[in-house]
Amino acid sequence: MPYYYSLGQVPHKRHTQFRKPDGALYSEQLFSTEGFSSDYSLLYHCNTPTQIIRTEPQLDVMPEIAEEKMLKHRSFEGFNLPAESDYLLSRKPVLVNNDCHIVLSACQESMKDYFFKNADADEMIFIHEGEGVLKTMYGELKFTYGDYLVIPRGTIYQVEFNTTVNRLFIVESFSPIRFPKRYQSKFGQLLEHAPFCERDIMPPSNLVTYDEKGDHLIRVKKKGVLYGLHYNHHPFDVVGWDGCCYPFAFSIHDFEPITGRVHQPPPVHQTFEANNFVVCSFVPRLYDYHPDAIPAPYNHSNIDSDEVLYYVDGDFMSRKNVTRGMITLHPAGIPHGPHPGTVEKSIGKKETRELAVMVDTFHPLMLTKYALTLENPDYVMSWAE
Ligand SMILES: [Fe+2]
Repeated sequence: MPYYYSLGQVPHKRHTQFRKPDGALYSEQLFSTEGFSSDYSLLYHCNTPTQIIRTEPQLDVMPEIAEEKMLKHRSFEGFNLPAESDYLLSRKPVLVNNDCHIVLSACQESMKDYFFKNADADEMIFIHEGEGVLKTMYGELKFTYGDYLVIPRGTIYQVEFNTTVNRLFIVESFSPIRFPKRYQSKFGQLLEHAPFCERDIMPPSNLVTYDEKGDHLIRVKKKGVLYGLHYNHHPFDVVGWDGCCYPFAFSIHDFEPITGRVHQPPPVHQTFEANNFVVCSFVPRLYDYHPDAIPAPYNHSNIDSDEVLYYVDGDFMSRKNVTRGMITLHPAGIPHGPHPGTVEKSIGKKETRELAVMVDTFHPLMLTKYALTLENPDYVMSWAE
């Protein structure tokens, strides 16, 4: 999805002989998430990436749906999710549909004994708290507060935290996560009116080649089931790669807000898109500068999308009782808007310090049992005067 990039050594011509110092061939792998008809990369492994030596029993991790149908505004205390040591077990799906799963994690420890591959979904991992390194077969991505890590499905990775208090807001997307089409030229370059550009997109760096034999466990998630596949070599055995399909990092702090004389609609905050949902970044910005402007948003009907807002930091002028890590869900079918009193209060304000991530889905979301354990009851009545 991003621009062409290359790291390490690649042969002069694709699909030709590329040999190690001892004369043996490197093993070429074409990596894409949409067959042979979209962006791809070519990776060169020391070992063939197909050598499974042992398999483990499978584990069902399909989200347990608690409410399939509902029509209520909901709110959840994301930071009440208990911390867990294991990365995969710490990931708790809260809101799900067939296009995406919204997942929270308060993972305490780095992945040491295994690697992970999500065979179903591209992942967008928003780092709310914590820092570390995402290690992948493409190289490393350092991450810190405010980073989006976007990982194409099929990428083998390992998360190494430098911190024990970590809060992740994750979207698993069952279609490729891309930048908004309207921000790209017909050849894919980010245009002048986009709120970010290629310089803000961090590709992997520090490609370390682990040419190591031995039993290496890769946990692979497919159709809600975790499989344990043991390979006879280290999965990060790549000496070089090139192409346009690779994981990257983008900091929400590099999102340049688009502002106007009167209130700008949510699409100006859009950051990513996939089939049937979008991701938006609400960042600190100057308010509307028409002399009679109302900075608070207008009520809106959102009849065709469920709106999920994940509150990161700062103050939220249109909402009361907001906490860090809170999620609100405003479902399609009933309008929502600013809380009572917040419209008048917003008039004359010059700027907001709010930081939030929004996911708008075009098909309704279902609530999992984890969501219910985090719920603030009676939120639906919080507009009543
Ligand atoms: Fe909204």
